[in-house]
Amino acid sequence: MPTTTVFTIANQKGGVGKTTTAVNLAAALAEKKIPTLLIDLDPQANATSALGIEKTEGRSLYGPLRGEGAAAEMLTPTAIAGLTLIPSEEDLAAAEIEIAQSENYLQLLRRILEPLRNSGDYRAILIDCPPALGMLSMNSLCAADSLLITLQCEYMALEGLGQILRNVERLKSANINADLELGGIVMTMFDARTNLSRQVVDEVKAHLPDKIFNTLIPRSVRLSEAPSFGQTIFDYDAQSAGSLAYRALGAEVIKRFGLK
Ligand SMILES: Nc1ncnc2c1ncn2[C@@H]1O[C@H](COP(=O)(O)OP(=O)(O)OP(=O)(O)O)[C@@H](O)[C@H]1O
Ligand SMILES: [Mg+2]
Repeated sequence: MPTTTVFTIANQKGGVGKTTTAVNLAAALAEKKIPTLLIDLDPQANATSALGIEKTEGRSLYGPLRGEGAAAEMLTPTAIAGLTLIPSEEDLAAAEIEIAQSENYLQLLRRILEPLRNSGDYRAILIDCPPALGMLSMNSLCAADSLLITLQCEYMALEGLGQILRNVERLKSANINADLELGGIVMTMFDARTNLSRQVVDEVKAHLPDKIFNTLIPRSVRLSEAPSFGQTIFDYDAQSAGSLAYRALGAEVIKRFGLK
């Protein structure tokens, strides 16, 4: 039985392309026949609506995180073959507070995902995190094998990178998730016309040469329009630059993590 790799897509900074990457990377993997589960762990539920799925009370990991029901009960098919979603809902915001009061509060997500990880049904599980290093994001770091960080090609992009990497080191050295690796850095909203975009990419390359993905996600209006139609970039505009980029990123991820 092939193993399952759990990726968390995190950055405490808001609006840096986490959800756009989670949704389109998940779709790119599914397109390459890799059975993929996307987990929307953000109470904003942007990944859920980007896939054209209505937020529904009682359909998220909120219940399972409080010990009510199993994560498997939340599996929701999407319009994309090979891509399953666990949606989010606003109530998940309460989990930020409630989780902190439970025992073993960092391991709750890992525990409830264990049956899905072991089911053999998914080769890749992607978790879309909220813009904070709160309980939900910290739980995702504890549940994941690999952290993917999205960085916007803008001034101050690297701000906060140290903080999340220090958290990874802490979780590893405290043996809370000894196997967690920084899987890669995805540069988003790259604008080839500006020197700034290029400088930011060069800076990240200099610091983390083995981690930065070669594929740069361009700034593209089509990428920002697709979610309002409940579509991935592949369904919304298959020939757009954003579509080509996320397909290329998918191929890089498959190769880097040996997903095939
Ligand atoms: N490559 C891109 N080109 C143009 N717009 C983009 C691109 N990637 C994301 N966007 C837009 O930028 C905004 C923020 O992107 P996204 O929602 O993916 O970021 P996020 O990190 O998930 O945000 P949050 O922290 O609120 O969860 C959205 O309106 C999205 O449509
Ligand atoms: Mg988001």
